[in-house]
Amino acid sequence: MPVSSSEPRIRVLPPEAVDRIAAGEVVERPSSVVKELVENSLDAGARSVIIRLEDGGRRRIQVGDDGHGMSPAEIRLALERHATSKIRSIDDLARLRSLGFRGEALPSIAAVSRMEIVSREPSADFAWRVRVEGGRVVADQAAAGPPGTTVTVDDLFFNTPARRKYLRRPATELDRIVDLVHGLALASPGTRFRLEHGSRLLFSTSGSGDVLDAAAAVLGADTAAGLLVGADQRGEPGAPFRRLEVWAGLPSAARAGRQFQFFIVNGRAVRSDRLRAALERPYRRLLPLHRYPVAVVRLEVDPAAVDVNVHPSKQEIRLDREREVADALQALVHRLLARADLAPRVTLSPRAPALGAAGVREAAQVTPLVDGLPGRPQGQGPRQGPAAGGAEAAGPGLVREQAAPYHEAPGEAHGRPRFADLRILGQVDLTYLVAEGPEGLCIIDQHAAHERVVFEQLLGRGPGGPPPRQALAVPLTLELDAAAMERWRRHRHRLPQFGFVTEEFGPRAVMVREVPLLYRRPAGAPELLDLLDALGDAAEPDPEALEADLAQRTTAACRTAVKARDPLTADEARHLLRLLDGCRNPYTCPHGRPTLLVMRLGELERHFKRIM
Ligand SMILES: Nc1ncnc2c1ncn2[C@@H]1O[C@H](COP(=O)(O)OP(=O)(O)O)[C@@H](O)[C@H]1O
Ligand SMILES: [Mg+2]
Repeated sequence: MPVSSSEPRIRVLPPEAVDRIAAGEVVERPSSVVKELVENSLDAGARSVIIRLEDGGRRRIQVGDDGHGMSPAEIRLALERHATSKIRSIDDLARLRSLGFRGEALPSIAAVSRMEIVSREPSADFAWRVRVEGGRVVADQAAAGPPGTTVTVDDLFFNTPARRKYLRRPATELDRIVDLVHGLALASPGTRFRLEHGSRLLFSTSGSGDVLDAAAAVLGADTAAGLLVGADQRGEPGAPFRRLEVWAGLPSAARAGRQFQFFIVNGRAVRSDRLRAALERPYRRLLPLHRYPVAVVRLEVDPAAVDVNVHPSKQEIRLDREREVADALQALVHRLLARADLAPRVTLSPRAPALGAAGVREAAQVTPLVDGLPGRPQGQGPRQGPAAGGAEAAGPGLVREQAAPYHEAPGEAHGRPRFADLRILGQVDLTYLVAEGPEGLCIIDQHAAHERVVFEQLLGRGPGGPPPRQALAVPLTLELDAAAMERWRRHRHRLPQFGFVTEEFGPRAVMVREVPLLYRRPAGAPELLDLLDALGDAAEPDPEALEADLAQRTTAACRTAVKARDPLTADEARHLLRLLDGCRNPYTCPHGRPTLLVMRLGELERHFKRIM
């Protein structure tokens, strides 16, 4: 572009251009508008917030509240860039209790939409209405309206086609808004929320102030009823946080995505990779791949210890001592899961086909367990067919339900029910142990149970501590590749704790002298190789990571474990249950399939029409 000498090369942009450029940072999509407007309502002390959308927010976003409202002069001021009632100087950020502070949202939204603000202070006789189109005020007048503020944003990005093009399908934008409002509602359980799309009510909360009520609205009553609840309070000065509260979903309530994980720091819903990892870790051994726990995590810290001024959207934060917070979160979730009864309760769905009906495997016979050898059911040879696993146990007609909720109460004695207390009645299909428990009928997948026991023994912390070792009459020589040899060198000193006694045997081989007995069978080379791989390249392997890694590669446990369709004697069955009790996580196999299903007596009674 030719530049004449009289015109300077560098020029200050006109204010409209500045506004639109800045708007791009704050207002990325409809959900950002909803976020900013609802945060303003919450900052104004709203007890009720109503959000109305049209066309996924592209045509209209309206947020109405019953907060403290604005005077006409305040409305005009609020539309100025960097005008805020929330901080007066940068020092106030260290004491921030409000959600907003940048004074940017309203002018930014006004720059890229047709916006109307109607607001009335409770003491005022009438409301005031200001209309702005693309940043220009087109109306400024008295209006009718209740106390509080209603902001309506029409035709978002009508004057920035590039942005408009970037929007996703209305359904996708709507999903984002719903996820966002879920987080806001959980962060402010004392405020009533209502989210409408066209004429449809998508979501609402009662505003009772109880997080569990809001959680029930977000997660559904069933999932919320099973939440494991715990808290970690740190009153002492110098503590990394003041209070950490967790509502953690049962493994059976896990979802295929992470949209039901909420992290709330000082009342602000935020994203944090580190906290997310801390939450998910204790679940790793309980969930199959690509399933994610649902949870609400609320953290209270000294406002001076969070920096919310990282990004204009204020969803990312910097937290002092985040690592300590994450460790505390992981420990708390771990404790909650370790103490909870995680056995899925099953229900027979009303439409369940009767046994023997089409689509259901032929009715299996119950083999009574006698002390000694259980007789194979009459006329039943070793049948082929898929080895039945726990997942199949929840086959046609069986619907999983959540387990009994567990609430952490300090000082309370905890005992999850013991497997060994179950009264074993028999074996079905040479695969499932049938037993009576305090709640009703219990079904144990013996293969999954075996896998769990063997897996924990291989981890070196099986029932009764490290596994017993067996000296090999003929030591085993194992050739290793360079990487495996390196790992062996790094971890040789810790192998005995897993039951392996080895020594160097040339540059590329080790000699194995003793192996662990995994469920009474000696382990072999595959187990040692899996273990070395899982121990990995770090000098100090993280136990949770080791467990998750081993579970993933371990078919080792499956190889050694007693297979399904093995007859068990009564003694063997009881022994298995005792071993399960010694496991840290007796409720699933290493791959996350259940070991135990419970059908409560009430469920049986319902189906036998004893109760209606
Ligand atoms: N719903 C509302 N109720 C009362 N006051 C509001 C509302 N929305 C905005 N305001 C006022 O307008 C000001 C500017 O809002 P905004 O641009 O979002 O900046 P910030 O929230 O960062 O202060 C706020 O500081 C507040 O005083
Ligand atoms: Mg704001």
